[in-house]
Amino acid sequence: GKGAAMVTAVAYRLANQHAERQRILDSLRLSREQLLEVKSRMRKEMDRGLAKESHDQAAVKMLPTYVRSTPDGTEHGDFLALDLGGTNFRVLLVRVRGGKRRSVEMHNKIYTIPSEAVQGTGDELFDHIVHCIADFLEYMGMKGASLPLGFTFSFPCHQNKLDQGILLKWTKGFKASGCEGEDVVTLLKDAIHRREEFDLDVVAVVNDTVGTMMTCGYEDPLCEVGLIVGTGTNACYMEEMPNVELVDGDEGRMCVNMEWGAFGDQGELEDFSTDFDRTVDERSTNPGKQRYEKMISGMYLGEIVRNVLLEFTAKGLLFRGKLSERLKTRGIFETKFLSQIESDRLALRQVRSILQHLGLTSSTCDDSILVKEVCSVVARRAAQLCGAGLAAVVDKIRQNRNLPQLKITVGVDGTLYKLHPHFSSIMHQTVRDLSPLCDVTFLQSEDGSGKGAALITAVACRIRDAGQH
Ligand code: GLC
Repeated sequence: GKGAAMVTAVAYRLANQHAERQRILDSLRLSREQLLEVKSRMRKEMDRGLAKESHDQAAVKMLPTYVRSTPDGTEHGDFLALDLGGTNFRVLLVRVRGGKRRSVEMHNKIYTIPSEAVQGTGDELFDHIVHCIADFLEYMGMKGASLPLGFTFSFPCHQNKLDQGILLKWTKGFKASGCEGEDVVTLLKDAIHRREEFDLDVVAVVNDTVGTMMTCGYEDPLCEVGLIVGTGTNACYMEEMPNVELVDGDEGRMCVNMEWGAFGDQGELEDFSTDFDRTVDERSTNPGKQRYEKMISGMYLGEIVRNVLLEFTAKGLLFRGKLSERLKTRGIFETKFLSQIESDRLALRQVRSILQHLGLTSSTCDDSILVKEVCSVVARRAAQLCGAGLAAVVDKIRQNRNLPQLKITVGVDGTLYKLHPHFSSIMHQTVRDLSPLCDVTFLQSEDGSGKGAALITAVACRIRDAGQH
């Protein structure tokens, strides 16, 4: 009768909704074959970035860093370090002691960079940085001291030597004008001179990945890879000199800053990305750039999730089909919410209260389940993509050395890696699965960017001083 027909109609609608939900979630899932394909394309891009003749066209820049060896434990002295390009801007004083009682002691202060400085002119940005250094020296009671300084500057830089860094392009939402194409050491020195208060001896420009590798290398000599998964994502590793074609010389190894966030900028990820990824990219400060980073790192995952939720809502599958102003607001899903929502200890009603906290009030219990599933699918894809890239790196190192098996340590830092409840384990699993001939250990770095810059500065000073005697 009529009742039965209605039941059938409802069942039919539910089945349709279920299928629609699965179709959208499936578009964000990657198969093992696809991940192997990502690994092999990353490998191709690494070779293209390293080779002189293809470097200019390559998406993954594979930048030489002029860091040739990890610390040997004899370094010592007091150093200043700056850390720009992560979650916070920091100034640090690092005391390195060598020999038997080897230790690294640090004092640091966090400064916020006002958005005017991030989006204004380069002079404004660097004046602000120098203002913070002056404040720090005063705070530490060291006004007038002129210490060697290491500058962790976590953006793609072209280097011809350790104490130079020509900014190729801003990433991660930075856009201060007049900096691209300029040497950041010169920009910093000019700002110091404008202030006419103190002088600084800038010894090294360091990427955060390199600082992380160095910091972990201080404890574990097998550490020859550095990885960041935070606001942005990137990796560095020790490459054989003959392969670093941009730098003369064939002896030994040099650390290469891959700038792997730019993987995909020439379409290498087209068949794996979704409309959600394209939307997030188009509305970013750098459309078309850092496509791999935009599928992996903390600055973008929340936006991907929000765009998926928008689609679900528009299709009537979520929030009773009501598109709230809140959900239409960019940036409401900070990465820390993704970590919270996926926390295993969290009951569903707590997911619901997080959603309410975000202003998404009309949520039901089913809504909470679906939101959690979206967060989980997006984070899993990010961790797997990151693992596929890393698998390419460790396998290249193994092949470089003609080894049937490679034992290696990866030093890691970054808020997403450290705080997300599942990211790290999925990433580890992916690397082990895609590079079975490598025995990979992961070591979390404690404050890699600050400590690492100081260690690199210390090594450079040790070598410089040895040359002068
Ligand atoms: C971005 C930067 C890169 C940095 C990474 C992690 O990808 O371009 O230099 O290492 O973020 O902070």
